[in-house]
Amino acid sequence: MSVGVLGTGHYVPPKVVTNKDLEQIVDTSDEWIRSRTGIEERRIADDDTDTSDMSFFAAQNALDEANVKPEDIDLILVATVTPDTPFPSVSCMLQDRLGARKAAAMDISAACSGFMYGMVTAKQFIDTGVYKNVLVIGVEKLSKITDWSDRNTCVLFGDGAGAAVLGEVAEGKGILSFELGADGSGGKELYQDENDHLQMNGREVFKFAVRQMPESSVNVIEKIGYNEADVDYLIPHQANIRIMEAARERLGISKDKMADSVKRYGNNSSASIPIALSEAVKDGNIKDNDLIVLVGFGGGLTWGAIALKWGK
Ligand code: UT7
Repeated sequence: MSVGVLGTGHYVPPKVVTNKDLEQIVDTSDEWIRSRTGIEERRIADDDTDTSDMSFFAAQNALDEANVKPEDIDLILVATVTPDTPFPSVSCMLQDRLGARKAAAMDISAACSGFMYGMVTAKQFIDTGVYKNVLVIGVEKLSKITDWSDRNTCVLFGDGAGAAVLGEVAEGKGILSFELGADGSGGKELYQDENDHLQMNGREVFKFAVRQMPESSVNVIEKIGYNEADVDYLIPHQANIRIMEAARERLGISKDKMADSVKRYGNNSSASIPIALSEAVKDGNIKDNDLIVLVGFGGGLTWGAIALKWGK
């Protein structure tokens, strides 16, 4: 059984907040943000749009592309650290709104690696023959846990949602290998504090990320007997262009073979990889039989990578 992506979708809120806008709020500059992170602007959801709303829009887009009806979804997995409420879960809200009557539903908490954890979990259920169609979402409304007076963090993040429908694909295509990892001793480097604000030790997370992203990317391709030159497209977690470049350079692939939406959306945590994947499909940057590496890292600390042969 080969498990792959039947369709992808994404949603970003229409409101654009530029670096210049942030200069009005905190002591920062467009120059600092661009040169340290690669971010030029980000999308921020309005008060009436919560995490479940964005996940619904992305899900509709992915189901359309996959040509799968809501009533044919067996399981909904929503990766998020910014749910509407701790419970009911976003996945249950989504199940109701989509009319996915027979779907089981649960949220996954693995911060920015959440979509990697979701895809790998989906694969297990499909591999065993228990489920046929699994909807995986990465969605965040990070603006609601952002401390808008903290220049160390408020310039980095944005809101959005990405989705993929996973199911059986042709032999040799789909998820060829994966790696998931966690190091709970690093939990203090990136967490939500007692005021519900995101706190981060940027330098420590940076050091972890520039080591982990290249290493995991190489691990998943070596596991299947491929080498760096075989990679057609790299979709790293869109946290910081300098971290993404470390992974790209380790694989030795050219800039046009790496997704780069961080400049337009900032860091969308669990949503960044599925948004970038959905855009790459819609922009024609991914072709049938391309070998794609998806790789992420985040709070927990957690990380995950997937080698994926594109196509159904
Ligand atoms: O999804 C996973 C989540 N996180 C990440 O991926 C973040 C990983 N870390 C990073 O991307 C980088 O560490 C940052 C972008 C957060 C920071 O870049 P850096 O090159 O590591 O800068 P730094 O922390 O070494 O700070 C340099 C200086 C500091 O001033 P001092 O202490 O040297 O005087 C900061 O106070 O830049 C200052 N600074 C700012 N200045 C202007 C921090 N934020 C800002 C800002 N505008 N927004």
